[in-house]
Amino acid sequence: MDKLLINGPSKIEGEIRISGSKNSALPILASGLLSKGSVRIGNLPHLNDVTTMIELLSCLGVDLLIDEKLGVELNAEKITQFTAPYELVKTMRASILVLGPLLARLGKARVSFPGGCAIGSRPVDLHLRGFEALGATVTVESGFIEAVVDGRLKGAHIFMDKVTVGGTENILMAATLAEGRSIIENAAREPEVVDLANCLNAMGAKISGIGTDKLIIDGVEELHGCDYDVMSDRIEAGTFLVAAAATRGWIKVKDVDPHSLEAVLAKLEEAGAKMTVGDDWIRLDMEGRKPIAVDIRTAPYPAFPTDMQAQFTAMNSVATGVSTVVETIFENRLIQVHEMNRMGANIRIEGNTAIVEGCETLTAAPVMASDLRASASLVIAGLCANGATLVDRIYHIDRGYECIEEKMQLLGASIRRIPGRLSNEQSEQSS
Ligand code: UD1
Repeated sequence: MDKLLINGPSKIEGEIRISGSKNSALPILASGLLSKGSVRIGNLPHLNDVTTMIELLSCLGVDLLIDEKLGVELNAEKITQFTAPYELVKTMRASILVLGPLLARLGKARVSFPGGCAIGSRPVDLHLRGFEALGATVTVESGFIEAVVDGRLKGAHIFMDKVTVGGTENILMAATLAEGRSIIENAAREPEVVDLANCLNAMGAKISGIGTDKLIIDGVEELHGCDYDVMSDRIEAGTFLVAAAATRGWIKVKDVDPHSLEAVLAKLEEAGAKMTVGDDWIRLDMEGRKPIAVDIRTAPYPAFPTDMQAQFTAMNSVATGVSTVVETIFENRLIQVHEMNRMGANIRIEGNTAIVEGCETLTAAPVMASDLRASASLVIAGLCANGATLVDRIYHIDRGYECIEEKMQLLGASIRRIPGRLSNEQSEQSS
């Protein structure tokens, strides 16, 4: 297993380009199953999860072409396979996103039931209820979810009990090919859902209310091809901004939409950062100051994203003052705290809240990553700590950050990858 070795303290200073969004790329790639024409997707990040999704599409019978700019052209005209096998789903929970498109295209879909992961139980009941509302019969047997419909799905008025990003995306994709109008109430408004809806409209879907919590979908008989670039990764951008804030440095992140990060930018300003934004860039400068502790409460967009919670907890641990970090989306997403305390952080957990007492400095230690964003927070802690921090199990970080150590090096960090062997456990992780 690869590890990251960070020699701290290291200040983040410089400019970097932000990659395409993983959380946008995965549903958009799955949406290629809906079209009989060729769909070209550009600005894909080079990440293991993207490769796994491409492998899954290929195993479902999609013709794939990778062009010289590393865009992927998908052609799902002749798909006949409707089963997403356990071997692939267990490595990536987002595989569940092929369920809606397969059901809408073929009238049948079978996807291995994705289990929970380190951050929580992560049920998919709301996805399944949405498909049932669209007229499908859904059964769960022998570890597989099977959804079938006789003829086309039928438009329906769907009320989501909870805001779910994956659930909204799955139902939205299925509804594009349903007969008649569907309305999804209490839909997720995350920028990645907006990106998917825009891509579907580029394929000929009729979706309105994009960016609101009420999506209206007028079903069409078929979708055509399109050429679409995925949005940039707001969480990657946010992670680098926090790394600069925690290390009292400065950074300019380029090719990112500042509107997608408003809640995060407001918190960074509250932490004492001098922020400037352009159309597609954000600059943060701590002017050498230590960050001020900020209270965080995660909630669906446009509130503060759960995917930025761990990184802010790391920053708060070296900030001036005491803060509370409340995680409301996932039941076990404060796990990184125990590793950070091993580095000298002073964090106490009470239920879903972390109470963080800022300390003067952290001390390097060998630490273990437990999930994607938790690993990013350990890298930030390593940058702030005195000495050599070795972060183990960084396959988690490789799932969501393209060339993290190269980008960090460009920004002046002393960080390098120590290659290791692939373990069984590594090939079976999912989150
Ligand atoms: C969630 C985050 C998303 C983040 C991603 C990866 C939210 C709203 N979603 O998306 O921002 O990028 O994790 O970290 O912040 N739920 C159910 N039943 C379902 C589906 C979900 O009860 O069928 C619950 C989940 O347990 C969770 C909440 O709804 O508590 C939100 O889950 P959901 O948005 O679906 O998760 P992801 O799509 O993975």
